[in-house]
Amino acid sequence: MGRLAGKIAIITGAAKGLGEADARMFVAEGARVILSDVDRENGERLAAELGDMAEFQYHDVRHDAEWQALIDDVVARYGRLDILVNNAGVVKLGTIETQTEADYRFIMAVSADATFFGCKHAVRVMKETGGGSIINMASIASVQGESVVAGYCAAKGAVEALTRAVAVHSAREGYNIRCNSVHPSSILTPMVIEVARQSGVTVAPDSEQTGTLAKLGEPDDIAYTVLFLASDESKFINGAAIRVDDAKSVIAGVV
Ligand SMILES: NC(=O)c1ccc[n+]([C@@H]2O[C@H](COP(=O)([O-])OP(=O)(O)OC[C@H]3O[C@@H](n4cnc5c(N)ncnc54)[C@H](O)[C@@H]3O)[C@@H](O)[C@H]2O)c1
Repeated sequence: MGRLAGKIAIITGAAKGLGEADARMFVAEGARVILSDVDRENGERLAAELGDMAEFQYHDVRHDAEWQALIDDVVARYGRLDILVNNAGVVKLGTIETQTEADYRFIMAVSADATFFGCKHAVRVMKETGGGSIINMASIASVQGESVVAGYCAAKGAVEALTRAVAVHSAREGYNIRCNSVHPSSILTPMVIEVARQSGVTVAPDSEQTGTLAKLGEPDDIAYTVLFLASDESKFINGAAIRVDDAKSVIAGVV
């Protein structure tokens, strides 16, 4: 019996990177997974590879109406939604001096706005069917000052704060809905490869290079955490901000 047996899950941004790793693990643990993304080609390919328990749905997370349609469709077909992973996100390089308004609004729309809409519609349906688990992908960018991605820091800070608001609201209302955020450091995905390319940095697993991209994690390092938060094993964890960063964001004490 899988750790997510019988559960219905939506993972946004599931066509590649961390969302893909989550989807592979969720299906292996018995969940039915709706892979949401704007990357139809990779999303459909992955869903086909994962088999009957996976399906791809084109879904642009920036739009509230698309959220409503997706979640209502899932509930109409499967009777419930147990797990939502608000994973989709984008990053654009830019400091507070150089980040353009267009890039800032794009980053906020895909991470912060989308997580708000996703939580809103998930709570609306989960409260009617006994509860659920919402996992929001934040970053250590909400913890550390990452000067070269100012808009991204703002978006992930919003995700972290919203997570606590959703968790406390749901607990107060007795909905049995948990909402937690996950905060990775740099993990080897297409996003990080692209950021490194733009920064002129070479990335590789187990890299010995120094600097901000040193010691990359693997997508499964995050997926195992997301799996735990999605499962009933974490039923007493609510409103938590869990760093998965090999101590990268921890301020060292005296040794
Ligand atoms: N990789 C890292 O080092 C890292 C670190 C911290 C946090 N994160 C966060 O984890 C999440 C996943 O990151 P990743 O590294 O896998 O990124 P990625 O770029 O490799 O994959 C992101 C996926 O989101 C999809 N997406 C983009 N815009 C979308 C939209 N409007 N609607 C639906 N889907 C959309 C993309 O098509 C892509 O498939 C993001 O929220 C990211 O900010 C990643």
